[in-house]
Amino acid sequence: MCGIVGAASSRNIVPLLVQGLQRLEYRGYDSCGVAIHAASLGQTERGLARARSTARVSELQQRVAEDQLHSATGIAHTRWATHGAPAVHNAHPHFSHGTGATAETLPGRVALVHNGIIENHEALRAELQAAGYVFHSQTDTEVIAHLIDSVYQGDLLAAVRATVARLHGAYAIAVLHHDEPHRVVGARAGSPLILGVGQGEHFLASDAMALAGVTDQIVYLEEGDVADLRPEGYAVYDRQSQPTARAVRTVQAHSGAAELGPYSHYMQKEIFEQPGAVADTLEGIEAITPDIFGPAAQATLSKIDRVLILACGTSYYSGSVAKYWLEALAQVPCQVEIASEYRYRDSVPHPNTLVVTITQSGETADTLAALRHAQSLGMTHSLTICNVATSAMVRECELAYVTRAGVEVGVASTKAFTTQLAGLFLLTLVLMKLRGRLSPAQEAEHLRAMRHLPAAMQSVLALEPQVMAWAQEFAEKENALFLGRGAHYPIALEGALKLKEITYIHAEAYAAGELKHGPLALVTSAMPVVTVAPNDTLLEKLKSNMQEVRARGGVLYVLADADSHISASDGVQVIRLPEHYGVLSPLLHVIPLQLLAYHTACARGTDVDKPRNLAKSVTVE
Ligand code: M6R
Repeated sequence: MCGIVGAASSRNIVPLLVQGLQRLEYRGYDSCGVAIHAASLGQTERGLARARSTARVSELQQRVAEDQLHSATGIAHTRWATHGAPAVHNAHPHFSHGTGATAETLPGRVALVHNGIIENHEALRAELQAAGYVFHSQTDTEVIAHLIDSVYQGDLLAAVRATVARLHGAYAIAVLHHDEPHRVVGARAGSPLILGVGQGEHFLASDAMALAGVTDQIVYLEEGDVADLRPEGYAVYDRQSQPTARAVRTVQAHSGAAELGPYSHYMQKEIFEQPGAVADTLEGIEAITPDIFGPAAQATLSKIDRVLILACGTSYYSGSVAKYWLEALAQVPCQVEIASEYRYRDSVPHPNTLVVTITQSGETADTLAALRHAQSLGMTHSLTICNVATSAMVRECELAYVTRAGVEVGVASTKAFTTQLAGLFLLTLVLMKLRGRLSPAQEAEHLRAMRHLPAAMQSVLALEPQVMAWAQEFAEKENALFLGRGAHYPIALEGALKLKEITYIHAEAYAAGELKHGPLALVTSAMPVVTVAPNDTLLEKLKSNMQEVRARGGVLYVLADADSHISASDGVQVIRLPEHYGVLSPLLHVIPLQLLAYHTACARGTDVDKPRNLAKSVTVE
């Protein structure tokens, strides 16, 4: 999703802006651009200038060089289209040239980049057009640039403050003004923006990764903050326009983009990193105690009598697996809600609920809004399972379990999912213990099984050649069904999501018992049916569902456990996982499904790490 970088320095920061955009590429984008104030390095005959592209940031880099953009003050952006098609005229930075400007050749007065959605943009556009502003894009963003111009009276900070007071919706912005060559002003509400503190230079960015190697001193701007940056210093103002001191934190941000190593794609690398990521996530856990979730967890977790999980996409599916664990093992009632639905529906709050948000990025707009909605209904106990320690979600939840998956670059989530499951299983065990449902022998057994996970994952990864053979067949298909039962139904859902996300094959998942209630009508010899078949209590039921498929000529691709007693036969292909993994089986059975999606995508030649239309960090609703 959109990414922002900005800088106020006294050296040429154009290379840093471009590099920052490259580090934000993982978020997904369809166009990009840079604007600078040329006068900041003494080119007084030039003011605001920009370069924009609908190609990759590397192409923008060439353009910037050709146009000889050098500056100490600048802003840059990767755009993920919401309002207006991906096209150069819709790419940011947007300029305001003042009223009556009919051609973009006139000198720019305001340059602006934006992440978020301005909900009242139509009304503002009509008002600005009536005042004489000419619009050059279809974006909601352009209204902000013109609005700033319309209220500007020699002080960009004051103009930005007056402007954001009129915006409805979500925004993170960074702004330059022609008359103030050494100043960048930023503001945020509903979309992330951080401030980087350097020596004699200051930065804005969507996340700390954009500034990796530039500065590790980071200020997390809060909702409603406006930041005023100059080379020699910065100031932050809160929603009431009061100067405020936000903490400066040292953040070790890594540019995951640097190390593809022997892998062809980040997704492949991240699938293979799962044993290490789960080992890192579980490191140091010698016993099941509430303080795994922080010092305040004992008091909080003792008070709650139900769990409400809020999440989107893959994170929603990890929550859906956890529901099976929490209810069966800890006997805690658990409700799992799609965040974008929950935030807008009338629901019945229970004060003793633990609200658990699950999010890889910690910045997903719908999940943050759902958390705030639950809090507004009086459910104040919250825990996040999140992969980014410095994210808005970690800051807004009472308790946090930060998974140690490392930076996940591929848009298709893989290692974030399995580390979330590891964290959710720990939550299950802690709640079991607090409720007297975990004997010392059971605790030891579960800890042993968790410690064995990395090795078990390695042995599942070794099945890759068999999965690749399946992928060659899937590459020819346009539809696929996925079946599972119990805690493996969400695994089937996740397998289908992975396949559709990166191969563009239409894939649906069903709880296998639902087959005869509708989807069986789709089954013909042209329909591959992937079946997740661990040796659990539902295996015999699942075998009956598989018979239903075979009887209609459907071709089964079965992921079985070593002891599932399912053999390959005509129309039935079987990959046998090396062991029977018991209750932790979802973390293992998902791996061949990730590999299937990955190798099918490779065979079809799609853009594995940056699938069309999708973004890594979904910071708008
Ligand atoms: O950062 P989050 O975990 O909150 O993201 C939620 C979804 O956008 C994300 O899981 C998405 O579904 C992935 N692309 C799936 O691979």
